[in-house]
Amino acid sequence: MNARDRYEQLKAEIRQHNELYYEKATPEISDQQYDELYRELVDLEEKHPDWVTPDSPTQEVGGAPSSSFETVTHRIPMMSLSNTYSEDEVREWHERLDREVGTTGHLRYTCEPKVDGIAVTLRYEQGRFTLGATRGDGREGEDITVNLRTVKDLPSTLKQGPWSGETIEVRGEAYMTLDGFGALNESREEAGLEPFANPRNSTAGSLKLLDSSEVAKRPIHVWAYELHAEGDWAGTLHSERLKALKQMGFAVVDWDFASDGDAIQRYWSKLEGQRNSLPYEIDGIVVKVDDLRLREELGTTAKAPRWAMAYKFKAQRAVTTLNAITQQVGRTGAVTPVAELEPVKLAGSTIRRSTLHNADEIRRLGLGPGMKVVLEKAGDVIPKVIARAEGEPEGHYEPPTECPVCGEELVQPEGEVIRRCINISCPAMLRGRLVHFASRGAMDIEGLGEKTVDLLLEHIEVTDEGQGSLLLDEEARTITDPGDIYSLTHEQVLALPGFAEISAKNLLDAIEASKKQDLARVLFALGIRMVGAGVARTLARHFQTLDNLQETAKTPEKLVEIDEVGPKIAESIGEFFALDRNLAFIEKLRRAGVNFGSEEEISEVGHQPLEGKTVVLTGSLEGWTRDDLSAKLRSFGANVTGSVSKKTDFVIVGEAAGSKLAKAEKLGVRVILEDELNELLPKWEAGEEA
Ligand code: IVH
Repeated sequence: MNARDRYEQLKAEIRQHNELYYEKATPEISDQQYDELYRELVDLEEKHPDWVTPDSPTQEVGGAPSSSFETVTHRIPMMSLSNTYSEDEVREWHERLDREVGTTGHLRYTCEPKVDGIAVTLRYEQGRFTLGATRGDGREGEDITVNLRTVKDLPSTLKQGPWSGETIEVRGEAYMTLDGFGALNESREEAGLEPFANPRNSTAGSLKLLDSSEVAKRPIHVWAYELHAEGDWAGTLHSERLKALKQMGFAVVDWDFASDGDAIQRYWSKLEGQRNSLPYEIDGIVVKVDDLRLREELGTTAKAPRWAMAYKFKAQRAVTTLNAITQQVGRTGAVTPVAELEPVKLAGSTIRRSTLHNADEIRRLGLGPGMKVVLEKAGDVIPKVIARAEGEPEGHYEPPTECPVCGEELVQPEGEVIRRCINISCPAMLRGRLVHFASRGAMDIEGLGEKTVDLLLEHIEVTDEGQGSLLLDEEARTITDPGDIYSLTHEQVLALPGFAEISAKNLLDAIEASKKQDLARVLFALGIRMVGAGVARTLARHFQTLDNLQETAKTPEKLVEIDEVGPKIAESIGEFFALDRNLAFIEKLRRAGVNFGSEEEISEVGHQPLEGKTVVLTGSLEGWTRDDLSAKLRSFGANVTGSVSKKTDFVIVGEAAGSKLAKAEKLGVRVILEDELNELLPKWEAGEEA
């Protein structure tokens, strides 16, 4: 490939990784790999300055803001940092700065941990927290004030001080502790949700939740590391400002001074040594010129200040043999290739297996059994095969067409890279299905968590007595789907290790009680791919009975006519009801007496007071969480959407509403304040039309 082609390829590749990192929060490569690509791009641009286009990733910062939050323009742009992994480069950088500003060996820096989270900016006016936003593309970010208000590290009112009358802007890093992250993922898995890949993604995802009461439950913290202020009290040193931030009531990073390359290197080594024992993740240090006047003198490039440098830790790597590529079936039936590795030590643990994600990834890396591969562990990310090392693969990798566990033919939805097993009785999926079925958001069977599910799978044999010919086996067998829990007997539960009279009775009572759950929960509990709790509720309301849905699912095109149901969801529902095993599962539920009807609000057209109305919520309401109010409005027939347009019928406005309110006013859309809402709700409740 010639240099010019490589240049174009690099730009496209980096752009794609930017999107994955900043907008989707699902990076596919490590920071170090990213930085290597980036460095190659910079080198090419230095050699060929005439190639550089304004859309080159070197000319822009980060990703564009995503759409669900209101956009704010930063008063002071949020730049990123130049970075390096090399001691020599840090020393060169220091010497260059020292020469440029003429400090002759006396330039002073602060050294701070580079916390691996997401950057936020916080505005305080007259001592009160008024605006919190993400970095976005550096110029514009997203207004996540309501969510940041839930973070305990952030004072809602500053402690008294000379700053009290002014407007200040604080920059910091939102992050999650490793403990908090672990606990959050555990409860996600318990609830049948995909775990987050790492604390950084988990923080990014949490701060962009639409329901701030949910954000409040997330273990998010913020370290403050920069202060922008005008007053004389703010002084001319960054180190003084860090102290001021502490006095104001912020949590401030643990920093130190350094005045030369040796001192910077010592701080870096000290933190690298602490890296694996800190309660949160750091990926390097940030070195900053302390004197703010010198900062001004040094200025910035298009992307980053010249007065600061991120000096990052190297990702930990190891080389080992790829012995085989096997397949693993996940809870949702996703079949993913796994690298079976010659055991190797990496970052304190022995690595034997590692996911290879999908066939495209294997092709991209050119992997096959018998060759040596490079493994990398970046931060808390699970070690990953990132490249081939040496040797040739033995043969060509062919992705499986059948489920390696149950033999069912796999499906690969168009446009997706993952193949799936859609056999609900597949043993590999069974455990997850059971846990999901019983989980809080689904059938809510108390006492039937992961541990009990494992006991059931290990010890229980069910008979198909009285269950009819729909079932595949006539003889005693182990549990094959969640429907089997309804035929558990007291004796069987009592015989499980750790169970006694009362606990057995409690479990069976909880199972019995779950039969009364609404269809919305039953549909969610079935575990149909892409049918989350929200879609399940919509389907329950629309169809009222499982039979109605099942009938319509024979022609998935008809499902698409329902709001919120796109072609992919429709196809997934169609596939689910087309499979005999799934029908057998449903039949078991029916025979057990599980409720297949819905009490979700009346669906007859005309009876719903907000039928056909489009409503937008903005700002925070005192008496409601967004989710609850949305559900309520939907139950009246309203279509609750995220952005104001001419089609919007009314906007319900809470405190700190921003651009959506302005837009509603501009378009002449009806605005309803909380007081008025409280008067209207009982009327709607009584069926009065809006
Ligand atoms: S200062 C203009 N200090 O690293 C300088 N950033 O790769 C603004 N970060 O966007 C950043 N710890 O999200 C600074 N002690 C620290 C930091 C820090 C983490 C993050 C921040 C920034 C990114 C740059």
